[in-house]
Amino acid sequence: MKSFDVVVIGAGPAGYIAAIRAAQLGLSTACVEKWQDAAGEYRLGGTCLNVGCIPSKALLESSENYERVQHHFKAHGITATGVKLDLKAMLARKDRIVDKMTTGISGLFRKNKVTWLKGQGTLVSGGTTWKVRAGEETVEAKNVVIATGSKPRQLPGVTIDNRLVCDNEGALAFDAVPERLGVIGAGVIGLELGSVWRRLGAKVRILEALPTFLPSADESVAKEAWSIFTRSGLDIELGVAIKEISQSKKSVKIQYTASDNSSKTFECDRLIVSIGRVPNTEGLGAENVGLRLDPKGFIEVDKNCRTALPGIYAIGDVVRGPMLAHKGEDEGVMVAEIIAGQHGHINYDAIPWVVYTAPELAWVGKTEQQLKAEGVAYRSGRFPFVYNGRALSREEPEGFVKILADAATDRVLGVHIIGSIASELIAEAVSAIEFGAASEDIARICHAHPSMSEVMKEAALAVDKRPLNG
Ligand code: FAD
Ligand code: NAI
Repeated sequence: MKSFDVVVIGAGPAGYIAAIRAAQLGLSTACVEKWQDAAGEYRLGGTCLNVGCIPSKALLESSENYERVQHHFKAHGITATGVKLDLKAMLARKDRIVDKMTTGISGLFRKNKVTWLKGQGTLVSGGTTWKVRAGEETVEAKNVVIATGSKPRQLPGVTIDNRLVCDNEGALAFDAVPERLGVIGAGVIGLELGSVWRRLGAKVRILEALPTFLPSADESVAKEAWSIFTRSGLDIELGVAIKEISQSKKSVKIQYTASDNSSKTFECDRLIVSIGRVPNTEGLGAENVGLRLDPKGFIEVDKNCRTALPGIYAIGDVVRGPMLAHKGEDEGVMVAEIIAGQHGHINYDAIPWVVYTAPELAWVGKTEQQLKAEGVAYRSGRFPFVYNGRALSREEPEGFVKILADAATDRVLGVHIIGSIASELIAEAVSAIEFGAASEDIARICHAHPSMSEVMKEAALAVDKRPLNG
């Protein structure tokens, strides 16, 4: 029987990064992955690379270009006629990127001497070392890192066929632009994929159960996003209760109760169900070794991702915390370093969130409503992109940066951005929070001119009521 210092189960961003870091630290490492593509080929990269972050961002970029050339280039004095959408080519480009990224991981595994075990990973038995069935073989491990990720949450009574009623996987591969697209859930997937298909020509209607739009974002950002998204053509209805979903050959009918208690019916050609994700422990064999799950099905871990079983760790979407690729990656690095006898580190207070809509939303740290609820005294500085030369030259004046700083110490507590490249700008805010910076530190850092990053500096100056350009 082959024996390893570390066996990682799952090769999504959490698992493959954990495996590479463990191997870098000199630990003999294997990674078990069961993902197979339509042709039956085994694939690394998990949800993120195959049906999540990467393909969605590829389509977001392509659909934004389509919208730019049709509507936004006019402002630059560029008129394009005869613009056509070649959806097949657009999807093929997305698939090429996915292919490049997933095969890239197998190259990284070879380079770092990580053994890739193909097939289902199941915990069989344990004690001082652990036995893991990996596809057809059984291997022995001193340490096991579980990174089995998550899967879409199902709406009771609704069957996902990925033809008419789709989860993220189907929604990334429609063979034609639906005339009428329905989306259940105005969360991250609903907004990102709803935006993709709206830009490509679909009439999009999003039904959301909660009465509040994007409740985890700062209220000011959610309010601005609501106004921009609904103006751009996303029809979002809040506070609905879905009653029944029925399917005919070519369409889907949704019956629901609206927020005013009236009964409504809505028919569409395709439906995306994006109502969150649940941890995936199917076939893992948790019961064989007494691994504990919490009431929601997450594997129970401490702050260092240790389970109650010696030598067994769990990371990524299958444990508590935000379901984000970079959170899982950082947990992967942390557990590999702990196994190697080092001090692993992760700061859960400095994990950025990004929603890749247009404009993008990005934030890190506390929202204003959280600070109020916690009774923390704070000062707030906000600066719009409309006064920024680079934003105007890019024809992207929408949005703002808002910085929240402790009233007594000026320490940055939260940064909230809505703007075209918020995903890139947020990195400065994450560094500021990690290094315990004050808003004055950001205000005194030299920012390149002209750049959209100057809005971060102006927002920091605005905390002290002294912006220079507005
Ligand atoms: P996963 O990526 O789910 O990987 C788990 C892997 O484990 C899978 O490959 C699975 O096949 C394998 N596995 C499961 N059980 C077993 C077993 N028993 N044996 C062997 N293998 C097993 N996050 C971001 O940060 N940014 C984004 O832009 C973003 N966009 C997203 C867009 C969409 C449409 C979706 C659905 C998600 C998106 N996410 C994004 C979330 C991100 O994809 C997840 O947070 C991330 O993939 C979690 O990584 P993970 O490694 O924990 O799990
Ligand atoms: P989500 O949690 O972001 O949003 C789900 C939405 O569905 C919520 O607003 C919820 O109130 C609503 N909902 C739940 N049940 C409902 C019902 N019965 N009827 C109507 N609405 C209902 O989950 P989503 O969009 O499915 O994405 C899953 C996860 O994937 C995200 O939470 C995030 O962690 C990750 N992700 C991250 C992205 C990013 O970082 N840019 C992009 C896409 C996904």
